[in-house]
Amino acid sequence: MLADTSAIDAGELRIDGARLLRRLDELAEIGAIEGTQGCSRLALTDEDAAGRALLATWMRDLGLTVIVDAIGNTVGVLGSDSVQGAVLTGSHIDTVATGGRFDGNLGVLAGLEVLETVIDHGVRPGRPLAVGFFTNEEGARFAPDMLGSLVYAGGLQIERALQSVAIDGAVLGDELDRIGWRGAAPVPGIAPHAFVECHIEQGPVLEAEGITIGAVTGVQGISWTKLTLTGQSNHAGTTPMSHRRDAGYVAVRIAGFVRDVVDEIGPPQVGTVGRIELYPNLVNVVAARATLTVDVRNTDDAVLTDVEGRIAEFAAGAAAGEGVELATEVLARFVPVAFDPAVIDLVEHVAEQLGHTTMRLPAGAGHDAQMLARICPAGMVFVPSVDGISHNPAEHTDPADIEAGVNVLLHAMLRLAEVGRVEERAP
Ligand code: GLV
Ligand code: MN
Ligand code: MN
Repeated sequence: MLADTSAIDAGELRIDGARLLRRLDELAEIGAIEGTQGCSRLALTDEDAAGRALLATWMRDLGLTVIVDAIGNTVGVLGSDSVQGAVLTGSHIDTVATGGRFDGNLGVLAGLEVLETVIDHGVRPGRPLAVGFFTNEEGARFAPDMLGSLVYAGGLQIERALQSVAIDGAVLGDELDRIGWRGAAPVPGIAPHAFVECHIEQGPVLEAEGITIGAVTGVQGISWTKLTLTGQSNHAGTTPMSHRRDAGYVAVRIAGFVRDVVDEIGPPQVGTVGRIELYPNLVNVVAARATLTVDVRNTDDAVLTDVEGRIAEFAAGAAAGEGVELATEVLARFVPVAFDPAVIDLVEHVAEQLGHTTMRLPAGAGHDAQMLARICPAGMVFVPSVDGISHNPAEHTDPADIEAGVNVLLHAMLRLAEVGRVEERAP
């Protein structure tokens, strides 16, 4: 149970927005995609390692105790050498290969800014405050997504996580060792008092509604499946259509079906085939092999389960009809998560007290907070995404909205840490 701190006034304390933006710029230089504002920092690559090193330096510069666990999750704690009893914030610094500079990074740097603000103003929280970044949130290189926070929360065994194979063939444990980020702290990690994550919305809702702060109610269910189709290579000119075992044809039929079934079900159902690979991928050769990924999501787990079944049935029929073998691998499956009502209320209440427009909404993307919600009261603060664009170098959030969101994070964390007053720092 969280203490009722709703009587505490939000006070005058504010973050330094310019300092936060400077850090966002500096981090975005690592893995910068030339000619864009975006970033390519796939999990456990050299770019990720460079980003981690910068974050750890900033944490140490603030005097935080830096704890790295066995899957590379990294937490900086203020006022303690442990996360025990702490109010934790954070997110991820890995990006998709064609990512923006805000997804995840904002949440980590927001946390750092909150802690620096607290230090600068001599605030004495009743609990330790902590900021962390979790390994491989994106899932773009290693599956599943939110892997680090899932391990932290005890939802995935470390041995299995370390064996995850990347889209480039690398093994997660090897990559963690190669970049030197396999830490000593045990997993599962210590459950903090509470977890609040600041993140860009990554969708169009807040902007369309003219709202500055989203109080996130939960995260929709996520299902990722990899399908591998094995047919037979043959000559594109000489092989009659009736003789083909065309893995590529089956793959595109499945991709088309995913779109059709999602359109038929209607919102909030979404579905994506983001990755198709053909072998040998040549103009005049029938494809012997195709792999594709299916990402389907819904806030209603029963509907999600139904759509998974319909896609599986269609894929089996399409493969059999073409004489192609089908193998399926579940890459990720997470049921919808509801955030803690007290944290949702708190985010909304603090946003209103700070004079911002606010609304409640579910998250469309996966987030580390959904994993931390397994072990402690958790919630999120959303800020608008310009044109609802994300997982794209053009991803953008206005500085004023960033500052608003991080001030909400600051005061939400202080409430959770049971801060009654702010002591001025001694001269
Ligand atoms: C990962 O965070 C995703 O939502 O795809
Ligand atoms: Mn993210
Ligand atoms: Mn993302």
